[in-house]
Amino acid sequence: MVALDVVKHSNLQLKAANLPKVAVFVGGTSGIGQHTISELVETGVETRIYLIGRPSSSERANKQIATLKQINPSVEVVWLAGEVSLLADVKRICTEIQSKETTLDLLFMSTGVLPFNGRKETSEGLDPTFTLQHFSRMAFITHLLPLLRASTNGRVVSIKGGGLEKADIDVDDLELKKPGAYGAIRSQIQVIAMNTLVMEKFAEQEQDVTFVHTFPGQVNTGNNMTSDVAPNSLMHWAMRLVVGPLVKIIGLSPKESAQRHLFASTSALYGGRGVPTDLPGAMNTRGGNGPGLFLVNQYCDASMNEKVLGHLRETAQEKAWVYTQEALRPFL
Ligand SMILES: NC(=O)c1ccc[n+]([C@@H]2O[C@H](COP(=O)([O-])OP(=O)(O)OC[C@H]3O[C@@H](n4cnc5c(N)ncnc54)[C@H](OP(=O)(O)O)[C@@H]3O)[C@@H](O)[C@H]2O)c1
Repeated sequence: MVALDVVKHSNLQLKAANLPKVAVFVGGTSGIGQHTISELVETGVETRIYLIGRPSSSERANKQIATLKQINPSVEVVWLAGEVSLLADVKRICTEIQSKETTLDLLFMSTGVLPFNGRKETSEGLDPTFTLQHFSRMAFITHLLPLLRASTNGRVVSIKGGGLEKADIDVDDLELKKPGAYGAIRSQIQVIAMNTLVMEKFAEQEQDVTFVHTFPGQVNTGNNMTSDVAPNSLMHWAMRLVVGPLVKIIGLSPKESAQRHLFASTSALYGGRGVPTDLPGAMNTRGGNGPGLFLVNQYCDASMNEKVLGHLRETAQEKAWVYTQEALRPFL
């Protein structure tokens, strides 16, 4: 565990040389993403943040931006509204960012919803849970890689379940389309493995970009109440009366989670670039200290999940990569 004091100290060391001068937050309108933006802004740094969220959140986002500007007038926050569950909209948003920026230091992605209400399909034929937590995130990476490469410290942070990969994913039905295959937990197992496997492939191709897949632990963001749950179902009341209160007691506060996610986004512990640290460099999934993919838990520890990943590399990585590329292809 990286002590919280070490995390806070590191975050206060953000300076021009290791600062994310340009950052894109997808899912920064609530929860861990929103709190991580606040932590970044509260350090007083001069930075430009692209805040991306659905149009229905525009009013909330504008209030959020006004508060951020009050806290730190030197920060610039650009609100880009779009349905990131649609890959065509991801392309439109990325084209806009590309037209304005020449480099990107941080791409931070935390969108998601827990699907207790069965598989659904967007107008593009993809399940929204899979899209928000995987396909759309991989599309953002693909579109923005040229900008990330152009940064001296390009970093991608995806928040889902890094280190929790399981060996028994269904490689022949990655999106769980077969009758009876789809389930809330099952979808998360698939998504977590696909995120890690595809990001590891990106990391192998991109020596100058660091990739981080975090598991935030249980964080009291209220995301249990925004799950896709049938109203008045048993799960609805379980979320409201059991899971929510339990997470409040045992979970990390959104502030601590955000401090730790800002650390994961900026510390040289992961990949050797960023805010210098006295700690021994964390190991990426290939056992090195340089750029690569880091699986980071809620306490900022990196793990290799070696046994499971070794198996998944043999059985699932190529399939997950090809499947993801096929899904993205019409929207590139
Ligand atoms: N919190 C936890 O305890 C926990 C534990 C393990 C894993 N995770 C994962 O970590 C990630 C972040 O969690 P969180 O607690 O910060 O989640 P959150 O508070 O629910 O925030 C999720 C973000 O996703 C956006 N979003 C949800 N549905 C959307 C849709 N249909 N289209 C576009 N955007 C949508 C939300 O936008 P709006 O602001 O517009 O609603 C919000 O910005 C999620 O993937 C979650 O599954 C969380």
